[in-house]
Amino acid sequence: MSARRTSDEGVARLARARALGERFLYRIDEVAEETVSSTSTAPDETGFDASGWDALRQEVLDCTKCELHKSRTQGVFGSGTPDTGFMIVGEAPGYYEDQQGEAFVGKAGQLLTKILAAIGFGRDEVFITNILKSRPPKNADPSPDQIAACEPYLERQIEIIDPAVILALGRHAARTLLGVDGSMASLRGRVFEYRGVPLVATYHPAALLRNPNLKRPTWEDVQLARKVYDEELQRRASQ
Ligand code: URA
Repeated sequence: MSARRTSDEGVARLARARALGERFLYRIDEVAEETVSSTSTAPDETGFDASGWDALRQEVLDCTKCELHKSRTQGVFGSGTPDTGFMIVGEAPGYYEDQQGEAFVGKAGQLLTKILAAIGFGRDEVFITNILKSRPPKNADPSPDQIAACEPYLERQIEIIDPAVILALGRHAARTLLGVDGSMASLRGRVFEYRGVPLVATYHPAALLRNPNLKRPTWEDVQLARKVYDEELQRRASQ
């Protein structure tokens, strides 16, 4: 299947919104519909490199750079669409993700889906991936060696997508992308930059399932990410 799920109406609309720099995405119905080919190769009008994306996906699926390839069921490249430029980075696939080959499909993923809906996105209207593309046995924390082996894939995903915002979920994602050691309490609630891309960090949905007190700050952070996304689309459109 092509990496571009542009046949989905909502995704096509958001892709068009990105291309046009439409600010008020909730009012996107007013924008004239345009057929977007699902077989087009890169780069397209949004600068998206579809052929590079498909090749990268295959590399991830075939990867044997760390020991995790021996125990995983399959690599998990990521889920959703790269077209809209709203990118979410978690920690690593868990049991269900490893089984299904999709990111964030377990309990934490179901909560993430609800959180996204609250800021106006369907799961298929964002791109969701992880620092590690293979499941660590027993869901162990990613090791520095595993992160070092896998990080280039994430870097290339970010390069190709050129996201309008990155939402980092949990301390492993935030620390890896930001190259700092702080607690989530110290990293959340503000906008960082990752290679020129605005980045907001917040708690991992699994942490929210354990501690409901984290729901409020997380809600503030995802709203901030949405606002930054809208502003970034606007800024790019005016360039
Ligand atoms: N937790 C993560 O960090 N990523 C997933 O894909 C699933 C659970």
